[in-house]
Amino acid sequence: MAIVIEGPRTDRKPRDPAEPLRGANIVVGIAGGIASYKAAELVRMLDKAGATVDVAMTPRAQKFIGPMTFQALTRRPVFTDLFNLTEEANIGHIQLADRADLIVIAPATANAIARLAAGLADDAVTAIALASRAPILVAPSMNVNMWNHPLTRANLQRLVEVARYHVVGPGDGFLACRWTGPGRLAEPADILEAAAHVLSRQDLAGKKIVVTAGPTYEAIDPVRFVGNRSSGKMGVALAAAAQRRGASVTLILGPSGVPPPVGVTANTVESAAQLQWALGNAVKDADVVVMTAAVGDYRPAKEAKEKIKRGELGSKMQIDLVANPDLLAELGAKRKGKTPLLVGFAAETTDVLENATKKLASKNCDLIVANDVSEPGAGFAVDTNHVTLVDVAGAEEIPAGPKSEVAHRILDRITAMLAAPPPMSTKPAKKPRRKS
Ligand code: PMT
Repeated sequence: MAIVIEGPRTDRKPRDPAEPLRGANIVVGIAGGIASYKAAELVRMLDKAGATVDVAMTPRAQKFIGPMTFQALTRRPVFTDLFNLTEEANIGHIQLADRADLIVIAPATANAIARLAAGLADDAVTAIALASRAPILVAPSMNVNMWNHPLTRANLQRLVEVARYHVVGPGDGFLACRWTGPGRLAEPADILEAAAHVLSRQDLAGKKIVVTAGPTYEAIDPVRFVGNRSSGKMGVALAAAAQRRGASVTLILGPSGVPPPVGVTANTVESAAQLQWALGNAVKDADVVVMTAAVGDYRPAKEAKEKIKRGELGSKMQIDLVANPDLLAELGAKRKGKTPLLVGFAAETTDVLENATKKLASKNCDLIVANDVSEPGAGFAVDTNHVTLVDVAGAEEIPAGPKSEVAHRILDRITAMLAAPPPMSTKPAKKPRRKS
């Protein structure tokens, strides 16, 4: 397989304001008001901006506009009923809540705002909002007197102050109820812009991050290879999250069915040797290198040019393996001072923390992400992970969660380390501490 190396992006155009929406998972929650129909335009615009949009509707919203409209616009099922046996077969509202990068509630009626502020969760929209850790943007829409009512104001204030909600609008003008004043749903373009703003946590802006992901395949012959179980999901999640946080990301991806995220420079490789070559090019001006790839430790000593025929070698086939270079250790040995910041992973099945601590020192890394791959729901090929961050100061357990969420927690640590480089001394990791 050929290596595709794309050069550094020297042709960057001015930033597209909708860029943070590209590739983001957005849930649009629709409450029941006369402006519900305007949500169709918002959903269309979010979809066009490259977001993956899921729609949840309250029963009242469905009286104003049908779920079919949103299903057609998003090409995805619309979530309408907490007690629907099909929609809830896999606890759909929790899956949507977990996957969301952002929840936009538009229109947010006075009733919906009151229910959200009370922590109610008895319809599709409020249940997803309460279950999610994603930021939430509300676009109020209601009669002017409802908007001006102190209870509505207090409810909204509670959402902002207690639950850190973001608010866009309402606009001012002639309302469907024939009153004039504030209460109009913000224009879909304004909601879109606000959504992009909320999403763009740009704490990695200006940083160049190289992420490796996936397995390597070490060829035995043109048909067979020595490989491993990595799917590439964890590394791709890291690349996507870093890109969304403003970094310029190069992803070096081994054989994987997971598509590289939009907006990252993706180099596909097959073997450890190809990965080594691609890495050598990519790290030159990198600020951070994250080695998520499960690089094969050994490769066949000789690659047969033609397919080895069954029986050609008798009843036993023996393959001599030779060690591949340790790419991370090479980077650790070569770098000058602490540049680039080096983050390794440790896939372990026993003595996880001890082994991770040893790798931190032997590979001269700043951080090791210790991954107990024998734990159900963690490690290879699954959508979730459970890891512990190990550095010279000790170990911090990251709560188990979707790989996208775990990726952000790893990046939180990387961002903090970039701001204040860690000390050089190496001490054994302390017991994990859970961060709230
Ligand atoms: O891809 P997924 O299915 O989502 O699974 C994610 C994952 C389990 C692959 C990932 O979370 C993980 O643990 N990646 C590290 C896999 C690994 O090779 O671990 P290791 O303990 O063998 O290697 C330690 C470190 O050295 C790693 O950062 C690895 O990239 C690096 N290494 C290893 C061998 C080698 N020859 N060169 C290296 O650079």
